[in-house]
Amino acid sequence: MGFPTTRMRRLRSSETLRRMVREHELTRDDLVLPLFIVEGLAQREPVASMPGVFRFSVREAVDECKRVRDLGVPAVILFGIPQQKDARGSGADRASGIVQESVAAIRGAVDDLCIITDVCLCEYTDHGHCGIVDGESVDNDPSVERLAAIALSHARAGAHMVAPSDMMDGRVAAIRSALDANGFENLPILSYAAKYASAFYGPFRDAVESTPQFGDRRSYQMDPPNRREALREMQLDLDEGADALMVKPALSYLDVLAEARRRFDVPLAAYQVSGEYAMIQAAAQNGWIDGERAMHEALVSIKRAGADWILSYAAADVAARLR
Ligand code: PBG
Repeated sequence: MGFPTTRMRRLRSSETLRRMVREHELTRDDLVLPLFIVEGLAQREPVASMPGVFRFSVREAVDECKRVRDLGVPAVILFGIPQQKDARGSGADRASGIVQESVAAIRGAVDDLCIITDVCLCEYTDHGHCGIVDGESVDNDPSVERLAAIALSHARAGAHMVAPSDMMDGRVAAIRSALDANGFENLPILSYAAKYASAFYGPFRDAVESTPQFGDRRSYQMDPPNRREALREMQLDLDEGADALMVKPALSYLDVLAEARRRFDVPLAAYQVSGEYAMIQAAAQNGWIDGERAMHEALVSIKRAGADWILSYAAADVAARLR
């Protein structure tokens, strides 16, 4: 029945009513904070293209984790930036590497925080690609072997969850079997299953110095126009043993997230990436939008689309406001 019998505005007329009919709510439990940790860094450095985001030393990362835990954020995801890079990304699976050292330090100081590690090669390779390079192409199977070794070294350091972000084929299965063969059968894998070759990663690549030295990532990350293909990627990763799936970026791929929510009964994560964060901050700094409201609206939209976990550089600020 339409107007005048139905008046949609009736249930919008006060904040109390709006609260009562609100369908989705962002909570601190939804949030995961990404942290950049730089080997050999003396003190924190701001990331120019991401206002409010820093590159931390190990010691400062520990302090940040305590602060984040006190704000009620349940999880962090760690990205390491090594001092030395080479073709194989040798720093990535060193027992004394930057992520391994950070995980151990954080675990020693903060016990009720879930420490997720990003498993990839791009921060550790001199060419900046997410795998082992043969000529101009990224060689899948040798890369997968490296990724399994990296995930295992993170597990040995004490990570609570590993998150492969490289987009090589078969890496979830390889990581699962490496973990299982070494006594980590209970360690969950969060797979960056539908990760697109996106322009929104620009500020991140500055922060971790991982811009490819030649070519781009389009031969392994997904082509933005494709949705059906994302669902195949997700199904494959589930079949290979992923415990949770990620869509990345978030805002431009909410349709993919919503479709994944309908299809898969596993926890779904969405990554509000560096460029999404930077756009809101930049517009807010110019006085063009209300940054806090815009951030909240963006995060709620990700929740509404179906995410259980939202990776966001604003996680700590938002948690402080939600408290
Ligand atoms: C790759 C990785 C990337 C991001 C997370 N993991 C970048 C890329 O694929 O170039 C992007 C995160 C962001 O933009 O915030 N290890």
